Amino acid sequence: MFITLEGIEGSGKTTQAKYVVELLQSKGHDCVLTREPGGTKIGEKIRAILLDPMSKKMNPLTELLLYNADRAQHIHELIHPLLSDGKTVICDRYYDATVVYQGFARGLDFGIINNLHKLIAKDLKPDITILLDLPTEIGLSRAWKQIKNGKRTGVETRFEEETLSFHEKVRSGYLKLARLEAERFRIIDASKNEKQVQKEIKRTLSAGLKLN
Ligand code: TMP
Repeated sequence: MFITLEGIEGSGKTTQAKYVVELLQSKGHDCVLTREPGGTKIGEKIRAILLDPMSKKMNPLTELLLYNADRAQHIHELIHPLLSDGKTVICDRYYDATVVYQGFARGLDFGIINNLHKLIAKDLKPDITILLDLPTEIGLSRAWKQIKNGKRTGVETRFEEETLSFHEKVRSGYLKLARLEAERFRIIDASKNEKQVQKEIKRTLSAGLKLN
């Protein structure tokens, strides 16, 4: 099974992804947690280029191709072999992030985004996508607090430095995708505290996966 987590900056995805692993492991799933960009040695190098605030001059098409390069390696080296082996893969961001950030927010052509995805991923789609949704101002202020407290690395702030309107487009893009694919998406109110969000995730996964 393939489960992804998505959301704007500061939505708590990374913390909640760890919770999803704990929850599913306690129900007998053999889980592997991974992330995009990153997840492989090559991917982590691509991640460093993508998120470096010094990469300000990056052309949107370069950005799109680098995210796809990262994903091509990730699917080939990690996700596909794990799924073939019967493992449950929990991934902190995947293709929906490309549609939303490079499509809705940067304005790149959805046809190009889609064709690139078909080339690298064939028909690999998450079974369930948890969308952690919250108002953009709250998410961004949480993200900056974590960066200032040193909980998140200060060399990965290129996207946090984008305008509020960029992040509004990201949030509304995710909500549009969730409406289009209501079967796959589970929208969780991430403005609540960590424990309440966990409770909501447990409720929705228990129903969807028939966990007891
Ligand atoms: P994160 O580890 O905090 O989620 O950071 C990854 C950043 O990369 C985040 O700002 C979203 C962005 N991103 C894209 O723009 N496109 C993508 O395809 C992915 C996976 C992430």
